[in-house]
Amino acid sequence: MDNARRSSSDRELEILTDGGCGESRSHLFDNRACQRREAVIGCARLPAARSIENEEANTRMLHPFKDLDDLYETGLHLAQMPDAKRRRARFYHLMQLFALTGGLDGETIEAGCFRGLSSFLLCHMTRRLDPAFRGQTHTVVDSFEGLSAPVAADKTGREAEGRFSNTSPEHVRRTLAEFPDVMLHKGWIPEVLQGLPEKRYRFAHVDVDLYTPTLHCLAYFYDRLTPGGMIVVDDFGPWPDGGRYPGCTTAVMEFCAERGLHFAALNTGNAVIIRHDGL
Ligand SMILES: C[S@@+](CC[C@H](N)C(=O)[O-])C[C@H]1O[C@@H](n2cnc3c(N)ncnc32)[C@H](O)[C@@H]1O
Repeated sequence: MDNARRSSSDRELEILTDGGCGESRSHLFDNRACQRREAVIGCARLPAARSIENEEANTRMLHPFKDLDDLYETGLHLAQMPDAKRRRARFYHLMQLFALTGGLDGETIEAGCFRGLSSFLLCHMTRRLDPAFRGQTHTVVDSFEGLSAPVAADKTGREAEGRFSNTSPEHVRRTLAEFPDVMLHKGWIPEVLQGLPEKRYRFAHVDVDLYTPTLHCLAYFYDRLTPGGMIVVDDFGPWPDGGRYPGCTTAVMEFCAERGLHFAALNTGNAVIIRHDGL
């Protein structure tokens, strides 16, 4: 089959079955693409990875994302945040999902950054593709004054309003010091979205917890996604019990029902929407 016509899942499968390095299948990969892929999945070159005797290489092949834990812990330290078991697993998914969009056109954006932990991780994943990356294609939007007012769908009282206000643009700049060109937009969703420059996105992370801003972010970002691009929503809620933010769950379900879209809900609580039209 002509390489250009192979589906991305065919290529993904071959990357997994030959350790990602394509030594014996170099007709499938040019060397640069292979190096880019190695950087994304975080494995070293593994020419002997198929040898059962090579225990270390096989362990690394089974855990190609092992180093994401270290990155997460560095991010926690910079953002000055405590660990949370469920968040760690959710962000582990977030980083891997993000990496899947690495080859697409378009920029990246996060709505709801708090102290910058998740944007720190996303920027590091982009740097694996582009070592010179300084944040210039990543945008962050936040009130920096915490959550907005909940509505009935949120099933919570006014006490939620203002939660996560103990941050600032300066705090996020410090967390993202390695990425000085990240664009920070301070303001309330939905109004702040209208002031963003018009762009196409390959990936959007929506982490604003409540019904109203989640629904607005989904509409705004989905319409600007590159085909194949992805939205990951942080607070859909883990299966089977749901999470702390039922308004976010409702927003995802309403949005997808209205647009006729499928989504995947992960047991860590994140939901995933992929734009398929035009593929
Ligand atoms: C759970 S925190 C985000 C956590 C972050 N993604 C991280 O890495 O830790 C939710 C964020 O959404 C922001 N937010 C909530 N509602 C908003 C709204 N209507 N407009 C702008 N920001 C909002 C809050 O200020 C807060 O920083």
